Amino acid sequence: MTTVLTSIREFEAVARDRLDPVHYDYFAGGAGDEVTVKANEAAFARLALLPRVLCGAGSPRIGVTLLGSRVAMPVLVAPTAFHRLADPEGEKATARAAAAAQTIMIVSMAATVAVEDVAAAAPGATLWFQLYIQPDMAFTEAIVRRAEAAGCTALVVTVDSPAHGRRYRDVRHGFDDLPDGLCCENMRDGDHEQARPIVMSPAISWEHVDLLRRMTRLPIVLKGVTHPADARLALDHGVSALYVSNHGGRQLDTVPAAVDLLPEIVAAVGGAVPVLVDGGIRRGTDVVKALALGASAVAVGRPVVWGLAAGGECGVARVLGLLRDEIEHTLTLCGLASLGDLEPGLVRPC
Ligand code: FNR
Ligand code: LAC
Repeated sequence: MTTVLTSIREFEAVARDRLDPVHYDYFAGGAGDEVTVKANEAAFARLALLPRVLCGAGSPRIGVTLLGSRVAMPVLVAPTAFHRLADPEGEKATARAAAAAQTIMIVSMAATVAVEDVAAAAPGATLWFQLYIQPDMAFTEAIVRRAEAAGCTALVVTVDSPAHGRRYRDVRHGFDDLPDGLCCENMRDGDHEQARPIVMSPAISWEHVDLLRRMTRLPIVLKGVTHPADARLALDHGVSALYVSNHGGRQLDTVPAAVDLLPEIVAAVGGAVPVLVDGGIRRGTDVVKALALGASAVAVGRPVVWGLAAGGECGVARVLGLLRDEIEHTLTLCGLASLGDLEPGLVRPC
């Protein structure tokens, strides 16, 4: 990967060349007609930035503190499954790149490297662990204990998946299992056991969130909230942060674009806890727009996968570096000194 790549789209093109087409479709695809997949990116293009001039702002500062962790930029690595389909080192490579960029990696429950091995591969990395609450609460607790012992500092509980999304690209390819030699390493019940399948259950409710809160002292980030009423309920149930997401358009198709959901959720939360958002973020300008609309930070899913498939750890580092440089540049062009100066007036529909 020696060519200079200047957009996530170019990383995707290189990744596409290198990946098995079935795996490319798994990473790129979404649910139904992929209306939401497309909407996520299109929504950012429909928002304009209106900069101020002669602000004398100097070089911008883009660090932020989230649930007690200082990160060098407001872009987290969203939890995405199966990194070893993209690179032999898989999640280890991603974690090293995230650590080097001084940001947080959210390790997927569906990772192809065990959370303990991800942590060992990237000393000093800040890792959060993404959990699908399993109906077998004893097994859920065992996974939580593993994440705690591995040093993860938050649990990101994904709640947009009472069932698997219907992804027709995967259906057409018959892609419903990992190739031999790969499995969801966090789903093993003991060293020699086979990995269990991840259960996505419609029986999961707020009661399970309460059980989880009593089970662990780790802060809980609720991922996949799209309705303001659920944002308010989440606060009642003691979550430490909200994570607005439509799962990159991979669960319920035709859910609105993530950035369009943000203002109502931010209003519902009223500053009580940080609000994160993901879906369709491909440029530094997208990050700045999301933060101006009230997000504390954003996360990127596919961009990281494209970096990984295009160039392993170095590819992920380059994707994160591109976004970091663009965020700084955007703030400079907006006449702003820091992320704290962002406000909704910077953004308007176009
Ligand atoms: C995901 N996502 C996801 N979310 C989650 O909570 N657990 C998971 O295991 C996965 N796995 C996963 C795999 C792949 C290939 C993708 C693309 C996405 C959703 C992810 O965390 C995030 O919400 C979206 O990827 C954000 O959209 P963008 O950045 O990909 O547009
Ligand atoms: C996905 C699941 C693993 O989006 O969350 O593929």
